[in-house]
Amino acid sequence: MTGQPIPVIIDCDTGVDDALALLFAVRHPGIDLRAITCVAGNTDVEGVVRNTLTVLEQAGAPGIPVARGAERPLIEAVRTARHVHGEDGMADLGLPAPTRTAVDVDAVTLLRREILASPRPVTLVPTAPLTNIALLLRTHPEVVRNIERIVFMGGAVAAGNATPVAEFNVWHDPEAAAILLTAGVPITMYGLDVFKRVLVPEAEVRRLRTSPEPGLRMAGRLLAHRDPDASGDPTPTGSLGDAGAVCAVVDPAGIRTELLPVEVNLAAGPGRGQTIVDRRPRPGEAEIHAGGRERPLVDVALDVDVERYVELYLSTVERQSAVRAAHP
Ligand code: BDR
Ligand code: CA
Repeated sequence: MTGQPIPVIIDCDTGVDDALALLFAVRHPGIDLRAITCVAGNTDVEGVVRNTLTVLEQAGAPGIPVARGAERPLIEAVRTARHVHGEDGMADLGLPAPTRTAVDVDAVTLLRREILASPRPVTLVPTAPLTNIALLLRTHPEVVRNIERIVFMGGAVAAGNATPVAEFNVWHDPEAAAILLTAGVPITMYGLDVFKRVLVPEAEVRRLRTSPEPGLRMAGRLLAHRDPDASGDPTPTGSLGDAGAVCAVVDPAGIRTELLPVEVNLAAGPGRGQTIVDRRPRPGEAEIHAGGRERPLVDVALDVDVERYVELYLSTVERQSAVRAAHP
């Protein structure tokens, strides 16, 4: 690694794979994780805060500020993914309750404060429904001047998971996702197309599960978590899931992206929450006859080097745990 660490803020709904993302972020020397904000998604926001604090303690990084954010989407009701992530939203591992609580400001306030206070522009990494980010952009639009890029896990070019066409994070709060896409800063969409592919081999998962180090053991147990209703499982056994989006922050060369127009389908009905990614090489009749609409351009991840990200993930979380053991 060369240069200074990248200032990063993660907005999450921890979440089995959000937990894996947090472990990676706190252990990668190229990331300066300045804050974590929580939003309702995989489970209710109270559960997300508790899970996030637990992960940080298990990871040996208890000092990072964590704030509670939106308890429901802008318009929709809360629709959790506990059937995938377990009753507690994080695989029901029976991990100890956290010993500290969230900071006494809300997520939007913490986001604003940390973004504007950062000496260098921040990379924002939402791995959850985009409610907090939309509220931030509408309440404090001045933050964009100190945002380098937004790398978000959400959307899909091809098939969805929450519906045949919509990915969970965008489907849970489509209006918020539409606001994010028009933020006016560079955006990378790490969608389901790449998200689903980064799987850790079983042997590595087994090795992590038996580690004496709590953070690694937790990672192994999370990676081994199996959706009890495995059909159409968005987080199959061994999936790095959201952690891949954080890999894309420190190693953007591990994904192949194309700058493409993306819009969120906000209409009621079966297409709601779909990210419509325009991969056509030239304008179609709709644009020729009607002039077309302004559509934000997004760096859409179309391919990922799976082995590279698995190796990056494992070497990061394991090397840092070794450093921790040597210098407790
Ligand atoms: C996304 O939804 C959640 O269940 C995961 O944590 C991930 O962020 C995948 O659709
Ligand atoms: Ca998530």
